[in-house]
Amino acid sequence: GAPVEVNISKLADGQMIRVEWRGKPVWIVRRSQAVLQQLATHDAQLRDPTSEEPQQPQYAQNSHRSLKPEIFLAVGICTHLGCSPTYLPTSFSDQVSGVAAGFFCPCHGSTFDMAGRVFAGVPAPLNLVVPPYQFLDDNTILVG
Ligand code: FES
Repeated sequence: GAPVEVNISKLADGQMIRVEWRGKPVWIVRRSQAVLQQLATHDAQLRDPTSEEPQQPQYAQNSHRSLKPEIFLAVGICTHLGCSPTYLPTSFSDQVSGVAAGFFCPCHGSTFDMAGRVFAGVPAPLNLVVPPYQFLDDNTILVG
């Protein structure tokens, strides 16, 4: 599959752009400062807060899991059995206290924070996969 170029100039805080890369959905989300601050507060609830699992790019190994803190990219496929998680930009399942937003997989209830990090105690074994990408300029991302 060819790399996919995406213009993010109109992407506002909390919004998501969905593109297809190699037949897979890729999400691009702009996170607010409030969301970024919150990412630093719940490591103890996460299975792999610093993405030590091998198949993640190096730039995914931090609390925001991205090249630029505010722009998050992930393959939109649950790491359990491949369902498509739902993006909940402003509210999150009550079962995960203290988390204001994230991704919820309706198939078996896996929950991920706004960096796609999986919570402990749910079926999904791994954080959402961060695809390879680069910034061509401030508003243009090349996925792949
Ligand atoms: Fe997502 Fe099972 S496929 S929780």
